[in-house]
Amino acid sequence: MAILINEQTLTFTLQTRSTSYQMAVDEHGVLLHTYYGASIDPEDDLRELIVRSDMGFSGNPPEAGSDRTYSLDTLPQELPSSGVGDYREDMIRLRHADGSMAADFRFESWEVLPAAQPIPGLPALYGDEQEPGETLILTLKEKASSVKVKLYYGIFEKENVITRSAVILGGGTAPVQLEKALSCCLDFQHEELDMIYFSGRHAMERTLRRVPVGFARTEIGSIRGTSSHQLNPGVILCTPGADEEHGLCWGMLFVYSGCFTAAVQKGQRCGTRAVMGIHPDWFSFTLEPGEQFCTPQVILSCSDQGLGALSRQYHDVIREHLCRGAWKHAQRPVLINNWEATYFDFDEEKILSLGRQAAGLGIEMLVLDDGWFGKRDGDTSGLGDWVVNEKKMGGSIGQLAAKLHGMGLKFGIWFEPEMISEDSDLFRAHPDWAIRIPGREPNRGRCQLVLDMSRKEIRDYLLDRISAVLEESQADYVKWDMNRSVCDLYSSALPAERSGELFHRYMLGVYELLERLLQRFPDLLLEGCSGGGGRFDAGMLYYSPQIWCSDNADAINRLQIQYGTSFFYPVSAMGAHVAVVPGFRERRSVPLKTRADVAMSGSFGYELDLSKLDKEDLEQIPGQIALFKQCYALTHEGDYYRLCMNDRMSAWGFAAKDRTSAMVTVVMTEAEANPLPVYLPLRGLDPDKRYRCSLTGTIRSGRSWERAGLALPQTPGQYESLVITFEQTED
Ligand code: GLA
Repeated sequence: MAILINEQTLTFTLQTRSTSYQMAVDEHGVLLHTYYGASIDPEDDLRELIVRSDMGFSGNPPEAGSDRTYSLDTLPQELPSSGVGDYREDMIRLRHADGSMAADFRFESWEVLPAAQPIPGLPALYGDEQEPGETLILTLKEKASSVKVKLYYGIFEKENVITRSAVILGGGTAPVQLEKALSCCLDFQHEELDMIYFSGRHAMERTLRRVPVGFARTEIGSIRGTSSHQLNPGVILCTPGADEEHGLCWGMLFVYSGCFTAAVQKGQRCGTRAVMGIHPDWFSFTLEPGEQFCTPQVILSCSDQGLGALSRQYHDVIREHLCRGAWKHAQRPVLINNWEATYFDFDEEKILSLGRQAAGLGIEMLVLDDGWFGKRDGDTSGLGDWVVNEKKMGGSIGQLAAKLHGMGLKFGIWFEPEMISEDSDLFRAHPDWAIRIPGREPNRGRCQLVLDMSRKEIRDYLLDRISAVLEESQADYVKWDMNRSVCDLYSSALPAERSGELFHRYMLGVYELLERLLQRFPDLLLEGCSGGGGRFDAGMLYYSPQIWCSDNADAINRLQIQYGTSFFYPVSAMGAHVAVVPGFRERRSVPLKTRADVAMSGSFGYELDLSKLDKEDLEQIPGQIALFKQCYALTHEGDYYRLCMNDRMSAWGFAAKDRTSAMVTVVMTEAEANPLPVYLPLRGLDPDKRYRCSLTGTIRSGRSWERAGLALPQTPGQYESLVITFEQTED
């Protein structure tokens, strides 16, 4: 049993393999948070950790009478009240019919379900036969109204994961206005903490940032309608000394692809509160009596073994309980994408000759990117007209795909379903389908407008069009792109008082369309994309097991991007391609081998004009594909270790779950004259097994390899890389 309940004291302890999360209901029905960390004995009640003292100046609720030590403003809570004397971050803000704004929730009942629970309309971790998960539901009632909240706690024991989400239920006879509806609050009582988050920009996503948590509120978030290039919806809190292998750390990962907030702040008594959920700006939702609002899920995980172990817990739970479908574990095809090979400048012959050359080298799928449909020879027109441009493609999409299939290639195709160009037949027929405010000139992003995905007729149109293309072409793969942020919020389908619902209804619409598409094409491999990695989040991974990591395919920049991405997301989720050098952004040349070594720590492919490669480079490609396949079980299913990231080099490794093999990739980023030797740490080996190193040929025990490390016989030069494998041997 992962959920232990003391019915007398109303203490709830959630046990995972090596962590515990405890809550307790106090004498006034407030649901307190007492502990989250390395395992404790579940019969031990830790509410005594909460030390009270006179808080007369912070305010005391009426039940406290003259006890000035009882204050909502200092108690660690699971569902912090708002408007009634807790002045810290709140989770739920209500505007009642009379205009009052109090939300004061008290415990009512509990229920345990023997499985992970889906969230209607939203992505969420799911259970399976091996690990069905368990769920604790705590119902709290608002003190003076009929609004209730059900807090959901899902437990995935093996991966040390606890999920949180909430269902808010309208009651009584009048509607209530939700002004804020976050998913999770984590109250720490005394720990000094650092906060790690991942910031960036287009083509340079997810750079790690680490700041001490202080009394000034630190918030990351997005109000762009997507999770964004700028800030990823994941936060790690950790003890200040925590590193890859040591220290306590806690992760909060949002399973949502739209606007979000994550805020952390120390309170007056030095306890830290962290909250996460849908961004309250540009959000409100009307709940009629009997209606419910489901918040998206937050995946919590904790490790006392440092950041590396925390990341591996996220990788495991994402691969096993978030990614779904035929491609969950199946080997993803090595692809060639024509975008950086041709941009918009292609015709049938160019695509076929790229396909021919790719097939000859052992590449398995051609992805036809932007420009195959409508009037689309640049980015100012055509979006929405999902009908092949027969003139450009020399015939129907079915004919083109058949020719590629005839070469032994799978066929993949690009869509940007959520968008509409003003210069398109779709816009001419349905100008009101675009999100824009009547009477105002709309703002454009990449010259395009956004479709109102909250509207069913628009989603139906898209499903019909996409399905027709997929059926005709027998496509195996879709790249689902989304190339601008959303603004000018207005939907002609929503009454004025519900206009604050659009951002969330947009996301619900996108998820619904993705779900229907996958139901119709269960074998389809989806790759998410948003100007590269602008919507790289756990929400999308429920539908697309891989996401194009960044429009920046420069191998050296990719080290940083893939490193930052790896803190939450597994390598199997990261679309990574070998691109041309010098790239137009950073104008640097990196050897083809290094480009491939970096990209194969991802869902691997090529995105360049193969006809422009010299013979020597071309000859390397079959070997690269073979190496990717040889290491696939390690990179896509194994344990991942960040080994080294400094000004001189970057190194990371993988170990098989059964510890029979491991690999390390190292890339030199800064060469120097008379170079110092490179000593690489190794991780993930069984101390008692013996392994042969592919580089040196030497055999040592896992213990010796891990403790002594590997000395590279020769220091690689600038931008050179090595992939070194370790195979178990009986020798
Ligand atoms: C986005 C994607 C690219 C490519 C282009 C096509 O920028 O990230 O990979 O598909 O759109 O317009």
